[in-house]
Amino acid sequence: MNHPTQTMTPPNEFVNWFRSSSPYIHAHRNKTFVISFGGEAVLAADFEHHVHDFALLNSLGIRLVLVHGIRPQIDQRLHNSAPPRFHNHLRITDDLALQAVKEAAGLVRVEIEALLSLGLANSPMAGAKIKVASGNFVTAKPLGVIDGIDYCHTGEVRRIDSEAIHQQLDQDNVVLISPIGYSPSGEIFNLSAEQVATAVAIALKAEKLVLLTEQSCCHPDSGKPIQQMTTAEISAFLDKHPNLHETMSQPLKAAIHACNSGIARVHLIDRTQNGALLLELFTRDGIGTLISSNPFEDLRPASLHDIGGILELIKPLEQQGVLAKRSREKIEMEIADYFIIERDGLIIGCIALHADLQRHFGVIACLAVHPDYRRSARANRLLDYASRKAKQLNLKKIFVLSTQTVHWFIERGFLSSDITNLPEPLKALYNPQRNSKILCKDIE
Ligand SMILES: CC(C)(COP(=O)(O)OP(=O)(O)OC[C@H]1O[C@@H](n2cnc3c(N)ncnc32)[C@H](O)[C@@H]1OP(=O)(O)O)[C@@H](O)C(=O)NCCC(=O)NCCS
Repeated sequence: MNHPTQTMTPPNEFVNWFRSSSPYIHAHRNKTFVISFGGEAVLAADFEHHVHDFALLNSLGIRLVLVHGIRPQIDQRLHNSAPPRFHNHLRITDDLALQAVKEAAGLVRVEIEALLSLGLANSPMAGAKIKVASGNFVTAKPLGVIDGIDYCHTGEVRRIDSEAIHQQLDQDNVVLISPIGYSPSGEIFNLSAEQVATAVAIALKAEKLVLLTEQSCCHPDSGKPIQQMTTAEISAFLDKHPNLHETMSQPLKAAIHACNSGIARVHLIDRTQNGALLLELFTRDGIGTLISSNPFEDLRPASLHDIGGILELIKPLEQQGVLAKRSREKIEMEIADYFIIERDGLIIGCIALHADLQRHFGVIACLAVHPDYRRSARANRLLDYASRKAKQLNLKKIFVLSTQTVHWFIERGFLSSDITNLPEPLKALYNPQRNSKILCKDIE
């Protein structure tokens, strides 16, 4: 093990980074991730880094299925005999191409297995001891003749033997799948790796489908990376940009299909960026494009499961004296009053509305937004949500007691008030030592 001073990263930075990744390590354990990558990734000089990252995911208890592509390897083999033929981004696999498919799939699989078997003491794979399982998990059928084009041995997925894959994963094996399927009559079909990965993820009900792509998913006009999209946004995006390069359009279409079939999160990650997989899976904002059916960030009522996350958010503010202290038990008892913003499993904002239904007033409390996410109107959204809730509950006034955020509330229509205007139950709770300013707003 390196002494901390010998590492490239300053020790404090490393410790902070490692600690901040721990919620993701807990969250990902025992979850099934399907990761697909093209044959280009296997040919790249840095492919062994990807394999080290796969090994790390496996050692952290992630159930891993890898699906590899073989397109450039097939092209290499066909190069001298016949030019590769494609239609609608799919290869037309004649007898000659099928021979190349079989050779390429065998070779690539063996190369990946060899890299996953590496265990040299001075390499990142030391002690990894990864067991790899491959097999006839994919049943396929011919694509047939489309638009007058006979696709010959190009096929599509018919069925995935999810039970057999789960059995392998249960034994801590990494499952490696080639883009090849077999028919019940013993025929072999050439498949698209993305299609296989998507079908496998759906059949396994995987937590995540990760597509390692050949380029970042960027906005064609601004060139800026797209961090997240819902499936509805992708559909609109594809309609608006019909000439998008297939390296971008194909993964986006696969992501829509996966999300519509129940996969909660699809990640598109540019495989050419060093460590991209780890940055995407273990940092708050990731590095790739996250795709989900529902908005990535959700404002919703809190439940008992959220208490840990709420405490994590408000504890530093309590210590600074910005928020009044509240115990876990108090939050537990009043959890129905809390609303939170959840972002990819983490709670980054909260507010509470304590309502007195008989006297028709409410108190806004515990408003907080994580420091990394401030100044994007999240607190505004929380306050709007709580105000709408107050209206639904037929409250006439809401109060806030604040020491350091008075102006924020005044800018949002609250008026300064004083203790004489507080309803009796609130008066009794007012802590003169804290000396909070009293603000109130009529609910219209
Ligand atoms: C106050 C808080 C909830 C605002 O969250 P947010 O999501 O950044 O808020 P919004 O994006 O809706 O509003 C941002 C605006 O509020 C302003 N603002 C932030 N804190 C403020 C404060 N204490 N007083 C006055 N204005 C403040 C910001 O400067 C920004 O305005 P600007 O862009 O014009 O400069 C957040 O700063 C926080 O969690 N603070 C610590 C906890 C706290 O004070 N809670 C209130 C307890 S009563």
